[in-house]
Amino acid sequence: MSMHASVADRHVAYSIPEDVLAGLTASQKSIPSKYFYDAEGSRLFEAICELPEYYVTRTETALLGQVAEDIAAFVPQDATLVEFGSGSSTKTRLLLDAAPQIRRYVPIDNCRDAVEHAAQMLRERYPRLAVSPLVHDFTQPVRLPAAAARSPVVGFIPGSTIGNFSPDEAVEFLRNARAVLGPGSKFAVGADLAKPAEVLIPAYADDQGVTAAFNKNVLTRLNREFGADFDLESFEHLSVWNSVASRIEMHLVSRRQQRVEIGGWVLEFEPGETIHTENSYKHDPAAFADLAERARWRVAASYLNPSPAFGIFLLAS
Ligand SMILES: C[S@@+](CC[C@H](N)C(=O)[O-])C[C@H]1O[C@@H](n2cnc3c(N)ncnc32)[C@H](O)[C@@H]1O
Repeated sequence: MSMHASVADRHVAYSIPEDVLAGLTASQKSIPSKYFYDAEGSRLFEAICELPEYYVTRTETALLGQVAEDIAAFVPQDATLVEFGSGSSTKTRLLLDAAPQIRRYVPIDNCRDAVEHAAQMLRERYPRLAVSPLVHDFTQPVRLPAAAARSPVVGFIPGSTIGNFSPDEAVEFLRNARAVLGPGSKFAVGADLAKPAEVLIPAYADDQGVTAAFNKNVLTRLNREFGADFDLESFEHLSVWNSVASRIEMHLVSRRQQRVEIGGWVLEFEPGETIHTENSYKHDPAAFADLAERARWRVAASYLNPSPAFGIFLLAS
């Protein structure tokens, strides 16, 4: 517990999730990045995907468009597609169009608005596809619907969402996903690759301030859902390239000395002190294959875009 946090002398009316409390009371304050995605956070993420600086979405979408037929050749008849962190399920359509043998789609996301909206859109567009959305934290054990568990299963995690995990966390996620998807499954993973800081930094600190609004929205969420009193004007968005860890870090920097209350806790901030809100690891293809192997997956095919560097890895269990 940090010296910069203490219990306020008042009734605790809100139940703060353990991971939020642990993060905000550590010496380097942090908030898990999964809390970005309430309805407004998901809307802001979609706006980020449209930004000229954010090369990730258009690069992965173009690459997936080129290789979807190849990936489709790995998809068995009557397969179930399980997507982790499905959001708007926009890229999914490229796989569904290339692989009409997919009979069932299970999007998993912890943002109810995003997953339900996407499920409705896909049901209208693909009337023969059974869509079974799960509002769920994909770092926790999950059981697939019975019909899905009886069919061949293909996993999908685009958006470089895998980059939000540290290497050890990524291995744990891949290992758990292997257990969820089952023996003989395939798993298509989109991973952003290391590239010059001049390209990376603007992608996470755009001129229009959309990424800044996305970052600060997590404080709005903590204010609304957990009765915190963060003053948004007193924090500013920061993105830094950590070349040693090969990751972009997003932080919220305190502009002044201040105190913030959340669920009966008082957090003390020094000027310049940060809340670390996200990591986005940028992989190297060989190192990514090692991570996959540690989780007992084998890279059956890899599709690499040279510039901006991006990889889609097809894993086999
Ligand atoms: C970077 S966005 C990617 C969205 C979409 N797949 C794409 O490629 O554009 C990450 C998505 O994962 C979801 N997400 C993040 N952490 C999650 C968690 N622990 N459990 C479930 N969903 C999570 C978010 O709600 C968001 O929709």
